Amino acid sequence: MGGFAWVTLATNDSYSLGALVLAHSLKQVGSKHQLAVLVTPGVTNPMRAKLATVFDLVQEVNILDSKDESNLRLLKRPELGVTFTKLHCWRLTQFDKCVFLDADTLVLQNCDELFEREELSAAPDVGWPDCFNSGVFVFRPSNETYDKLVQFAVEKGSFDGGDQGLLNLYFSDWATKDISKHLPFIYNLCSTACYSYLPAFKQFGADAKIIHFIGSSKPWLQYFNTETRKVQPTPDVKHLEAILQQWWNIFCLLIHPTLTPDMTGLAGAFAQLTLGAPRTAEQSALDDHLRRQGWEVGNIDYMGRDSFDNIWNKICQTLSAALPEDAPKTTEAPPPSTDAKPIEKSLTEGQLAAKTAIMPKKITPLANV
Ligand code: UDP
Ligand code: GLC
Ligand code: MN
Repeated sequence: MGGFAWVTLATNDSYSLGALVLAHSLKQVGSKHQLAVLVTPGVTNPMRAKLATVFDLVQEVNILDSKDESNLRLLKRPELGVTFTKLHCWRLTQFDKCVFLDADTLVLQNCDELFEREELSAAPDVGWPDCFNSGVFVFRPSNETYDKLVQFAVEKGSFDGGDQGLLNLYFSDWATKDISKHLPFIYNLCSTACYSYLPAFKQFGADAKIIHFIGSSKPWLQYFNTETRKVQPTPDVKHLEAILQQWWNIFCLLIHPTLTPDMTGLAGAFAQLTLGAPRTAEQSALDDHLRRQGWEVGNIDYMGRDSFDNIWNKICQTLSAALPEDAPKTTEAPPPSTDAKPIEKSLTEGQLAAKTAIMPKKITPLANV
């Protein structure tokens, strides 16, 4: 093949949704380079077929997992051991040069100029700017580099349990040696940075070329109103509403219509939903389930939908429905004092959890989203 390619990775159907949106975003900005996606056995055949309609190459690779639980715990992302699988990108030797993009990135403007850079070019990580963030990097495929990286991984491991800790140890002179390998932040604008330095985001945000939804606030885990097709982001990413909507617009227009129920994870769940139509009871139940999943990974709308008042109302409604007709009913929230715990007085924690659980029983938890 030769030439240049954008490369991403998906180990399951949920992350594949991110890969698909990313690929469409690259096409929308008119990139002239090829698209490749690494998939592992966790990606279903129907999803691979869907990926093949947008990517020039769908390459199966085996999972590489650091299994480094203690460092992953420090990172608060136990699931990221599998990001070692990224290393396979160095084996795509049919290309001369590539840019790796995480599946949780979205390309906002054409950035084909990235291929003028050399290995290993990347932007600083917002958590520790003397490290690069490994969600966007320029590299040269080489079996030799791949072997060395795997050897290095076996001997030295990774300080964060994921690929970023490994790659920063391997390309250890990145911080000091050659400034041309420091990509401007606009090529890997980390969503959390917008929040921690909002004035800079207001000043420079419009220049962003690639946005990276790092952490647990993935676009596909945001609350999305299937009836209005509008995303309703949690406060931590509220300032990114327009960009998140851009992600969902691509999803609704180009991806959702081709999803099938034999896909797994969120892809399979979304295949069962009709967008833009009044919600059926089943759809509302699924929405609740997705919202609960978002809640569990920390996407909580403290001041809005998930506010104390709303939770309290929900508890009262549920209890009223369960109490005998003549029992006194209350909808008044308890005063915010330390010992006011009227609910616990009459119900055990387990009973309370059972009464207020919103997950419909017939929907099984989605795997690994
Ligand atoms: N990834 C994947 N499956 C997983 C976790 C991660 O395919 O279960 C891939 C995907 O390409 C993802 C990348 O590895 O974008 C890095 O993970 P993530 O973006 O979740 O890490 P973060 O950028 O939030 O630290
Ligand atoms: C980071 C990067 C991501 C990487 C992860 C684990 O936050 O954004 O690409 O996979 O750390 O090292
Ligand atoms: Mn990422």
